[in-house]
Order: sequence, then C-alpha cells, then structure tokens
Amino acid sequence: MASVFVTGGSGFIGTAFVRAAVAAGLDVRALARSGASVARLRALGAMPVEGDVLDESGAWRAAAADSDHVAHLAQPQTYGGRITDARARRWREERLQMDRALLGALDAARVPNVVYVAGTSFYGDCGADVPHDENVEPRPRGWGPYVAVALEAVRGYRERGLPIIEAFPGWVYGPGSWFAEYILTPLHAGKPTTALSGRCHIPSSVHVDDCARALVHLLTAGEPGRRYFVVDDAPVESEKLGRAAAAALGVPFRSRNVHPLICRLLLGRIVTESLQYENRLSNGRLRATEFVPAFPTYETGVPDAVATWLREHYHN
Ligand SMILES: NC(=O)c1ccc[n+]([C@@H]2O[C@H](COP(=O)([O-])OP(=O)(O)OC[C@H]3O[C@@H](n4cnc5c(N)ncnc54)[C@H](OP(=O)(O)O)[C@@H]3O)[C@@H](O)[C@H]2O)c1
Repeated sequence: MASVFVTGGSGFIGTAFVRAAVAAGLDVRALARSGASVARLRALGAMPVEGDVLDESGAWRAAAADSDHVAHLAQPQTYGGRITDARARRWREERLQMDRALLGALDAARVPNVVYVAGTSFYGDCGADVPHDENVEPRPRGWGPYVAVALEAVRGYRERGLPIIEAFPGWVYGPGSWFAEYILTPLHAGKPTTALSGRCHIPSSVHVDDCARALVHLLTAGEPGRRYFVVDDAPVESEKLGRAAAAALGVPFRSRNVHPLICRLLLGRIVTESLQYENRLSNGRLRATEFVPAFPTYETGVPDAVATWLREHYHN
C-alpha cells in the first residue's frame, strides 16, 4: 500500500483530503500538533504523527521523508479578524519556516512526489475576460504577495530536484471555514451576509470534497514542476454562491453592502483586496489529467455543502 504524509490534515481542506486519501486506499500519515487533532485524524482513518511543522528539527520529519507521497496543506491562520500588514508579514515568515522544515527534510534522491498547496491570490487580478490557464501572468493581490515569497523559495527546492507539484485551489466552499462562518451561519440565523459595495467580483471556486479529491489525484497524476488550478468548470459571481446557499437553506437571501473604505478599516487592506479582484481560472489542465469532479459547478456543489453543514451542526 502506498503511503502519503500530510500536513494540515486536521484543517478544513485537510480533513476532506484525509478522507479522500483513505478512500483511495492510501496509508495516510498525518501530522498533528494537538491531542484534539490526533483524535480527529485517527477517527478519519489516518495514523497521526505528533509534531509541529514549525519545528525544523522535529522527529516527524523522518516520517515525511519515509513516505511515498507528501501533501503540504498546513498554513498559519489566514482569516478571522483584522489582517494587518504586520500579521501578514508574520504569516509569511511562518510559512517560509514551515516549508523549510518540511521540504528540507525530503531527500531529492528518494524523490517522494510532493503536492504543495498554495492559493489563487498569487495569480490575483487576472482581468475580467475568459477563464485563464496556468500560464497567465500572476498579478498577486491580497495574500498573493506573501504567497509569492513562499513560491519563490519553493522554486529553489524544485531546482534541487524535488518533484513538487503546485496546486492552486480557488475559493474552497464547504461545510466549514469562511463559507460556514460568513455565508451559512448568518443566513441560517436570518441575518444578512456582508459584501463589498461596487462591482461584484468573480472568483473561481471549488467544493471542498472535489478540491481534496483533486489533490489526492495529483499525487500520482500530476506532473512534477507543473502548476494546476483546482477550480470548478466555471467561475461564478460571489453573490450567486450566497443566493444558492440561501435557496438550499430555505431562507431568503439577504446581503448588506459595506464600502471598501470601511472594510479596510475593519478588516484591513489584505482582506479588502481579496474581495476586489477578478480571478477567472480554468480547470482545463486538471481535467486533462482525467480528474472528474463530483460537483463541476456551484449549482450542485453548494446544495451538497449546505446539506452536510446542516447534518453536522443540527441533526446529530
Ligand atoms: N480554505 C480556502 O478557501 C483555501 C483556498 C485556496 C487555498 N487554500 C490553501 O489550502 C491549504 C489548507 O487550507 P485550509 O483552509 O484547510 O486551512 P486551515 O483550515 O486553516 O487548516 C490549517 C491546518 O494547518 C495546521 N497547522 C497550522 N500550523 C501548524 C503547525 N505549526 N504545525 C502543524 N500543523 C499546523 C492546522 O492544524 P491544527 O488543526 O492543529 O490547527 C490545520 O490542520 C492552505 O495552504 C491554504 O492557503 C485554502
């Protein structure tokens, strides 16, 4: 049985990744830095490996080096509260340290395939025309400039022979993370969601289970040195995601607009920028690896995410 070492397996995408990897028959070894994460990962069918990815001399690094594949999903927290430039700089330093600890532990001669998970903020403002492929010129926005520094360091590891596949998920919606906190929870409580006033921007999104299955698929079907957008078949206005969520919850859609200047004051420049750019990306390269999404568009994906959220939070 082939093995995969995963960081961030207790997180939003990571939990779905572990489920998908176990279902695909992989022996999953998952880094866990707390007792709660150990229990959660064991319940998902993974073997927890205790350690902190910031620990550059941690014993966990041997488990990573000894696996057939590696998936790197751990990251310092990116959302919640005001994101100041100082907080973003700390994020960048921690991200660099995490990547150094993990990628530095891997022996290019033994070459496990590594799926490195970044984010589409690196591509940033791609313009409002047709969906772009991975060759589009990156114009990092929001978190993008901070992700760009990490990707530049990753390039060094690739040049030293590590077979790294870079995955760029779009906005990942599902029964947790930002989608639950900012869309499902307020709508379910009869409150409005919050949007920026002005032009409604169009991001590329993806259901968390499809994102996770795509990352598992790329462990073997991805080509080292290549980048892959992990997004739905078509980008969608952010408001349509909210409307679809309200319909699935059986509540009226309500939204209140906040001026970008107010958003900057409350949540900071980085969050505000993240809500303002056009990021229409194509999954053509991912599809060409014969990946088949279960939810190719938000029309089927959002009702599934809502049903799971309701089941997990209200029907247990
Ligand atoms: N969510 C999205 O919409 C989205 C979109 C595009 C790309 N991405 C990318 O996908 C990846 C996963 O995102 P996510 O939303 O699943 O993140 P998440 O829910 O915030 O999970 C972060 C994970 O990293 C772990 N972690 C953080 N610091 C750690 C440390 N020092 N040592 C060990 N583990 C540590 C956390 O462990 P604990 O459980 O112990 O805290 C958790 O498992 C990230 O690289 C993110 O940038 C996410």
